[in-house]
Amino acid sequence: MSGPGPVTAIAHANIALAKYWGKAKDDENLPAVPSLSLTLAALSTTTSVVLRPDLESDSVSLDGETAAPRARERVIRVLDDVRTLAGSTTRATVESSNDFPTAAGLASSASGFAALALAAARAYGLAVEPPDLSAIARRASASAARSVFGGFVELRAGEQAAAPVLAGQDFPLVMLIAVTARGPKSIGSSEGMRLTRETSPYYPAWLSAAPPVFERVRAAVLARDLEALGTAMEESALMMHASMLAARPAIVYFAPATLGVVECVRALRKSGTLSYFTMDAGPHVKVLTAPETASSVERALAAVPGVERVIASRAGRAAALVGGA
Ligand code: PMV
Repeated sequence: MSGPGPVTAIAHANIALAKYWGKAKDDENLPAVPSLSLTLAALSTTTSVVLRPDLESDSVSLDGETAAPRARERVIRVLDDVRTLAGSTTRATVESSNDFPTAAGLASSASGFAALALAAARAYGLAVEPPDLSAIARRASASAARSVFGGFVELRAGEQAAAPVLAGQDFPLVMLIAVTARGPKSIGSSEGMRLTRETSPYYPAWLSAAPPVFERVRAAVLARDLEALGTAMEESALMMHASMLAARPAIVYFAPATLGVVECVRALRKSGTLSYFTMDAGPHVKVLTAPETASSVERALAAVPGVERVIASRAGRAAALVGGA
């Protein structure tokens, strides 16, 4: 186990280019479909864990405030997994903060749980390798399994851990995040996945369409082919959203500006600028383009009505310790 000081880790958010939507087994949080993501340098979470033999329960703060009960429970579940592996019952203090506004509804669970898995494992003295950390993070949020690694990362269906596919610098791209609206997402991803699986007539179609589109995304990443990657990436996102839109009640994450950005990206392509969109469980749009076209695409996105700001990001690195170990 670590000494009395904090163990601090940083991890970066990731955006899926081939989407994960649907669990193979709810209790273990294993994905039903393969996914492939790009870890992003611009969005990170820093998490510190301190062991507290004097405490009877864990203390969890997120962005300087006591965590809400549901978020606290998810953090404690990760700590419990780590404690079971370490054979410890010692409680801990967890402090986590994002370098991007959480209130904007940008994905924070992926970077958050990856940073937590690393900081907690090290604080409790576990000598675990990245695949083990990825499996710990996955139990809290499957997308977090991918944030343990940098660059392009895959998580296969039914797998415990994610794995790196290609280093970010080997296929340099820019992801532009068009922030379209504030506020929390309308329905959380676990609940949305359950509803889609139980009620959407398109869910079986999604389960059979996702693996081949993942293979196309993967092949395009390895071939460094932006056009093939972007085409398959858009198909993956739209098929995922189609399965949600057909759920009862319908799951609609789009805001008016979401479609405004989609239109803008399609118009950019018509005029010869390669750029491609993807959307997750929220109204923001993430746009992939080459470094040479990033600033002109960024200007075009910022001019779409309803876009509040645009965050530009290169590929990010793997989760890492920043001190205390
Ligand atoms: O791992 P979760 O529960 O945050 O779900 C992630 C779902 C999507 O962001 C919509 C897709 C993905 O692969 O990240």
